[in-house]
Amino acid sequence: MEVIIRPDAAAAVDLVSRLIQACIRRSPATVLGLATGRTMEQLYAHLVASGVSFRQCTSFNLDEYIGLPAEHPQSYRHYMHQHLFSRTDFQLHNTHVPEGDAADLSRAAQRYEEKIKSVGGIDLQLLGIGEAGHIGFNEPLSAIMSRTRDKCLTPTTRRQNAAMFGGNPELVPKRALTMGVGTILEAREIILLATGHSKSAVIAKAVEGPITSMISASALQLHPDCKVVVDEAAATDLQGREYYDFVFANEPQWAAFRK
Ligand code: F6R
Repeated sequence: MEVIIRPDAAAAVDLVSRLIQACIRRSPATVLGLATGRTMEQLYAHLVASGVSFRQCTSFNLDEYIGLPAEHPQSYRHYMHQHLFSRTDFQLHNTHVPEGDAADLSRAAQRYEEKIKSVGGIDLQLLGIGEAGHIGFNEPLSAIMSRTRDKCLTPTTRRQNAAMFGGNPELVPKRALTMGVGTILEAREIILLATGHSKSAVIAKAVEGPITSMISASALQLHPDCKVVVDEAAATDLQGREYYDFVFANEPQWAAFRK
Protein backbone atom coordinates (compact mmCIF):
# COMPACT_ATOMS: atom_id res chain seq x y z
CA MET A 1 0.00 0.00 0.00
CA GLU A 2 1.12 3.55 -0.67
CA VAL A 3 -0.42 6.64 0.90
CA ILE A 4 -0.23 9.92 -1.00
CA ILE A 5 -1.23 13.09 0.82
CA ARG A 6 -2.09 16.12 -1.28
CA PRO A 7 -2.61 19.65 0.06
CA ASP A 8 -6.35 19.82 -0.66
CA ALA A 9 -9.25 17.93 -2.22
CA ALA A 10 -8.71 19.47 -5.67
CA ALA A 11 -5.07 18.29 -5.72
CA ALA A 12 -6.06 14.79 -4.54
CA VAL A 13 -8.72 14.58 -7.26
CA ASP A 14 -6.26 15.90 -9.85
CA LEU A 15 -3.72 13.19 -8.95
CA VAL A 16 -6.25 10.34 -9.12
CA SER A 17 -7.62 11.67 -12.39
CA ARG A 18 -4.14 11.77 -13.90
CA LEU A 19 -3.40 8.21 -12.68
CA ILE A 20 -6.60 6.98 -14.38
CA GLN A 21 -5.86 8.90 -17.58
CA ALA A 22 -2.32 7.49 -17.69
CA CYS A 23 -3.70 3.97 -17.24
CA ILE A 24 -6.24 4.40 -20.07
CA ARG A 25 -3.66 5.95 -22.40
CA ARG A 26 -1.35 2.97 -21.74
CA SER A 27 -4.19 0.44 -22.17
CA PRO A 28 -7.21 1.91 -23.98
CA ALA A 29 -9.28 -1.23 -23.32
CA THR A 30 -8.88 -0.97 -19.52
CA VAL A 31 -11.55 -2.66 -17.38
CA LEU A 32 -12.45 -0.11 -14.72
CA GLY A 33 -14.16 -0.69 -11.38
CA LEU A 34 -16.12 2.46 -10.55
CA ALA A 35 -17.56 4.00 -7.39
CA THR A 36 -20.25 6.62 -6.77
CA GLY A 37 -20.74 9.19 -3.98
CA ARG A 38 -19.89 12.83 -3.43
CA THR A 39 -16.10 12.35 -3.57
CA MET A 40 -16.35 10.81 -7.03
CA GLU A 41 -18.42 13.67 -8.44
CA GLN A 42 -15.35 15.93 -8.49
CA LEU A 43 -13.22 13.17 -9.96
CA TYR A 44 -15.69 12.42 -12.76
CA ALA A 45 -15.95 16.15 -13.56
CA HIS A 46 -12.15 16.23 -13.84
CA LEU A 47 -12.05 13.16 -16.10
CA VAL A 48 -14.79 14.60 -18.33
CA ALA A 49 -12.85 17.88 -18.65
CA SER A 50 -9.62 15.99 -19.47
CA GLY A 51 -11.18 14.66 -22.68
CA VAL A 52 -9.69 11.20 -22.12
CA SER A 53 -11.38 8.57 -24.29
CA PHE A 54 -13.32 5.74 -22.63
CA ARG A 55 -14.45 4.34 -26.01
CA GLN A 56 -12.65 1.03 -25.54
CA CYS A 57 -13.09 0.79 -21.76
CA THR A 58 -15.41 -1.57 -19.90
CA SER A 59 -16.73 -0.63 -16.47
CA PHE A 60 -18.23 -2.36 -13.45
CA ASN A 61 -19.76 -0.30 -10.68
CA LEU A 62 -19.33 -1.43 -7.11
CA ASP A 63 -22.91 -1.30 -5.97
CA GLU A 64 -26.56 -0.39 -6.43
CA TYR A 65 -29.44 0.20 -4.02
CA ILE A 66 -31.91 -2.65 -3.86
CA GLY A 67 -35.38 -1.83 -5.12
CA LEU A 68 -34.44 1.22 -7.21
CA PRO A 69 -34.92 0.76 -10.95
CA ALA A 70 -32.06 2.00 -13.17
CA GLU A 71 -34.04 5.10 -14.22
CA HIS A 72 -34.73 6.19 -10.60
CA PRO A 73 -33.02 9.58 -9.99
CA GLN A 74 -31.24 8.22 -6.88
CA SER A 75 -30.06 4.98 -8.46
CA TYR A 76 -26.34 4.58 -9.01
CA ARG A 77 -26.98 3.76 -12.70
CA HIS A 78 -28.60 7.18 -12.97
CA TYR A 79 -25.71 8.80 -11.05
CA MET A 80 -23.16 7.24 -13.42
CA HIS A 81 -25.13 8.35 -16.46
CA GLN A 82 -25.35 11.89 -15.14
CA HIS A 83 -21.72 12.30 -14.01
CA LEU A 84 -19.73 10.18 -16.46
CA PHE A 85 -21.36 7.94 -19.05
CA SER A 86 -23.44 10.57 -20.85
CA ARG A 87 -20.61 13.11 -20.75
CA THR A 88 -17.89 10.92 -22.27
CA ASP A 89 -17.57 8.48 -25.18
CA PHE A 90 -18.16 5.46 -22.90
CA GLN A 91 -20.06 2.81 -24.89
CA LEU A 92 -23.15 2.12 -22.76
CA HIS A 93 -23.18 -1.60 -23.59
CA ASN A 94 -19.74 -1.85 -21.95
CA THR A 95 -20.92 -0.30 -18.66
CA HIS A 96 -22.25 -2.50 -15.87
CA VAL A 97 -24.02 -1.67 -12.61
CA PRO A 98 -25.41 -4.39 -10.29
CA GLU A 99 -29.13 -5.01 -10.94
CA GLY A 100 -30.60 -3.72 -7.70
CA ASP A 101 -34.13 -4.32 -8.95
CA ALA A 102 -33.59 -7.94 -10.07
CA ALA A 103 -36.31 -10.39 -9.00
CA ASP A 104 -33.64 -12.92 -8.02
CA LEU A 105 -30.84 -10.97 -6.32
CA SER A 106 -28.53 -13.92 -5.67
CA ARG A 107 -28.73 -14.90 -9.35
CA ALA A 108 -28.07 -11.26 -10.35
CA ALA A 109 -25.05 -11.23 -8.01
CA GLN A 110 -23.72 -14.44 -9.52
CA ARG A 111 -24.22 -13.08 -13.07
CA TYR A 112 -22.25 -9.96 -12.09
CA GLU A 113 -19.31 -12.04 -10.85
CA GLU A 114 -19.42 -14.15 -14.03
CA LYS A 115 -19.49 -11.04 -16.22
CA ILE A 116 -16.41 -9.61 -14.48
CA LYS A 117 -14.58 -12.92 -15.00
CA SER A 118 -15.66 -13.13 -18.65
CA VAL A 119 -13.85 -9.88 -19.52
CA GLY A 120 -10.68 -11.00 -17.73
CA GLY A 121 -11.21 -9.24 -14.38
CA ILE A 122 -10.91 -5.63 -13.28
CA ASP A 123 -7.68 -3.82 -14.14
CA LEU A 124 -8.15 -0.69 -12.06
CA GLN A 125 -10.62 -0.45 -9.20
CA LEU A 126 -11.56 2.98 -7.91
CA LEU A 127 -12.85 3.24 -4.33
CA GLY A 128 -14.23 5.77 -1.89
CA ILE A 129 -14.60 4.99 1.81
CA GLY A 130 -17.63 5.31 4.06
CA GLU A 131 -17.50 6.65 7.59
CA ALA A 132 -18.28 3.10 8.79
CA GLY A 133 -15.18 1.87 6.94
CA HIS A 134 -16.99 0.35 3.99
CA ILE A 135 -15.65 -0.06 0.48
CA GLY A 136 -18.51 -0.60 -1.94
CA PHE A 137 -21.32 -1.30 0.51
CA ASN A 138 -19.31 -3.83 2.50
CA GLU A 139 -20.54 -2.79 5.91
CA PRO A 140 -18.86 -3.90 9.17
CA LEU A 141 -18.43 -7.67 9.52
CA SER A 142 -18.40 -8.22 5.76
CA ALA A 143 -16.19 -11.25 5.21
CA ILE A 144 -12.83 -10.44 3.67
CA MET A 145 -13.56 -13.25 1.17
CA SER A 146 -17.10 -12.02 0.42
CA ARG A 147 -18.40 -11.89 -3.16
CA THR A 148 -21.14 -9.83 -4.82
CA ARG A 149 -24.30 -10.14 -2.70
CA ASP A 150 -27.05 -8.13 -1.07
CA LYS A 151 -26.11 -6.39 2.15
CA CYS A 152 -28.04 -4.53 4.86
CA LEU A 153 -26.78 -0.93 5.20
CA THR A 154 -25.70 0.53 8.56
CA PRO A 155 -27.56 3.50 10.09
CA THR A 156 -24.24 5.44 9.67
CA THR A 157 -24.27 4.81 5.92
CA ARG A 158 -27.94 5.70 5.59
CA ARG A 159 -27.30 8.98 7.46
CA GLN A 160 -24.17 9.63 5.34
CA ASN A 161 -26.17 9.20 2.12
CA ALA A 162 -29.35 10.96 3.29
CA ALA A 163 -28.47 14.18 1.42
CA MET A 164 -29.22 12.39 -1.87
CA PHE A 165 -32.69 11.50 -0.51
CA GLY A 166 -33.84 14.97 0.54
CA GLY A 167 -31.91 14.76 3.84
CA ASN A 168 -34.08 11.97 5.28
CA PRO A 169 -32.11 8.78 6.22
CA GLU A 170 -35.40 6.86 6.37
CA LEU A 171 -35.77 7.33 2.60
CA VAL A 172 -32.36 5.73 1.91
CA PRO A 173 -32.92 2.10 0.89
CA LYS A 174 -32.05 -0.41 3.63
CA ARG A 175 -30.16 -2.81 1.36
CA ALA A 176 -27.76 -2.76 -1.56
CA LEU A 177 -26.28 -5.22 -4.02
CA THR A 178 -22.52 -4.82 -3.70
CA MET A 179 -19.31 -6.39 -4.94
CA GLY A 180 -17.72 -8.27 -2.05
CA VAL A 181 -14.41 -7.45 -0.40
CA GLY A 182 -12.99 -10.57 -2.07
CA THR A 183 -14.27 -9.37 -5.47
CA ILE A 184 -12.61 -5.97 -4.95
CA LEU A 185 -9.30 -7.51 -3.83
CA GLU A 186 -9.07 -9.41 -7.14
CA ALA A 187 -8.63 -6.16 -9.12
CA ARG A 188 -5.08 -5.82 -10.44
CA GLU A 189 -4.70 -2.29 -9.13
CA ILE A 190 -6.73 -0.31 -6.60
CA ILE A 191 -6.94 3.45 -5.93
CA LEU A 192 -8.89 4.71 -2.92
CA LEU A 193 -9.71 8.43 -2.83
CA ALA A 194 -10.84 10.14 0.38
CA THR A 195 -11.14 13.82 1.20
CA GLY A 196 -12.33 15.87 4.16
CA HIS A 197 -12.16 15.68 7.97
CA SER A 198 -15.11 13.30 8.20
CA LYS A 199 -12.89 10.58 6.71
CA SER A 200 -9.72 11.12 8.81
CA ALA A 201 -10.50 8.67 11.64
CA VAL A 202 -11.60 5.88 9.32
CA ILE A 203 -8.64 6.39 6.97
CA ALA A 204 -6.23 5.97 9.90
CA LYS A 205 -8.02 2.77 10.94
CA ALA A 206 -8.05 1.39 7.39
CA VAL A 207 -4.39 2.17 6.65
CA GLU A 208 -2.65 1.80 10.00
CA GLY A 209 -5.06 -0.26 12.11
CA PRO A 210 -5.35 -4.04 12.27
CA ILE A 211 -6.99 -5.88 9.38
CA THR A 212 -10.50 -6.44 10.61
CA SER A 213 -13.88 -7.12 9.05
CA MET A 214 -15.19 -4.28 11.27
CA ILE A 215 -13.41 -1.90 8.83
CA SER A 216 -13.73 -3.45 5.37
CA ALA A 217 -11.21 -0.99 3.90
CA SER A 218 -8.48 -2.42 6.18
CA ALA A 219 -8.52 -5.52 3.92
CA LEU A 220 -6.80 -3.34 1.29
CA GLN A 221 -3.60 -3.83 3.31
CA LEU A 222 -3.58 -7.33 1.77
CA HIS A 223 -3.50 -6.01 -1.80
CA PRO A 224 -0.11 -5.82 -3.56
CA ASP A 225 -0.92 -2.68 -5.62
CA CYS A 226 -3.13 -0.31 -3.66
CA LYS A 227 -2.77 3.48 -3.53
CA VAL A 228 -4.64 5.57 -0.98
CA VAL A 229 -4.88 9.20 -2.07
CA VAL A 230 -6.07 11.68 0.56
CA ASP A 231 -6.08 15.41 1.19
CA GLU A 232 -4.58 17.02 4.32
CA ALA A 233 -7.95 16.97 6.08
CA ALA A 234 -8.43 13.22 5.61
CA ALA A 235 -4.78 12.60 6.60
CA THR A 236 -5.05 14.29 10.03
CA ASP A 237 -5.05 11.06 12.07
CA LEU A 238 -2.31 9.22 10.17
CA GLN A 239 0.79 8.46 12.27
CA GLY A 240 3.21 7.48 9.52
CA ARG A 241 3.00 10.45 7.20
CA GLU A 242 6.71 11.34 7.34
CA TYR A 243 7.44 8.09 5.53
CA TYR A 244 4.48 8.39 3.13
CA ASP A 245 5.60 11.89 2.12
CA PHE A 246 9.20 10.69 1.72
CA VAL A 247 8.14 7.91 -0.65
CA PHE A 248 6.03 10.29 -2.77
CA ALA A 249 8.87 12.84 -2.90
CA ASN A 250 11.57 10.33 -3.82
CA GLU A 251 10.27 7.27 -5.66
CA PRO A 252 10.80 7.59 -9.42
CA GLN A 253 7.32 6.37 -10.39
CA TRP A 254 5.88 9.50 -8.75
CA ALA A 255 8.13 11.99 -10.60
CA ALA A 256 5.56 12.74 -13.29
CA PHE A 257 2.78 13.21 -10.73
CA ARG A 258 4.41 15.53 -8.18
CA LYS A 259 3.74 18.73 -10.09
C1 F6R B 1 -20.44 4.05 -3.63
C2 F6R B 1 -19.54 3.36 -2.73
C3 F6R B 1 -19.25 3.89 -1.36
C4 F6R B 1 -18.74 5.33 -1.37
C5 F6R B 1 -18.48 5.80 0.07
C6 F6R B 1 -18.02 7.26 0.11
O1 F6R B 1 -20.48 3.40 -4.89
O2 F6R B 1 -19.04 2.37 -3.11
O3 F6R B 1 -18.32 3.03 -0.75
O4 F6R B 1 -17.56 5.39 -2.11
O5 F6R B 1 -19.64 5.68 0.83
O6 F6R B 1 -19.06 8.09 -0.28
P1 F6R B 1 -18.88 9.68 -0.33
O7 F6R B 1 -17.87 9.98 -1.37
O8 F6R B 1 -20.24 10.19 -0.68
O9 F6R B 1 -18.41 10.10 1.04
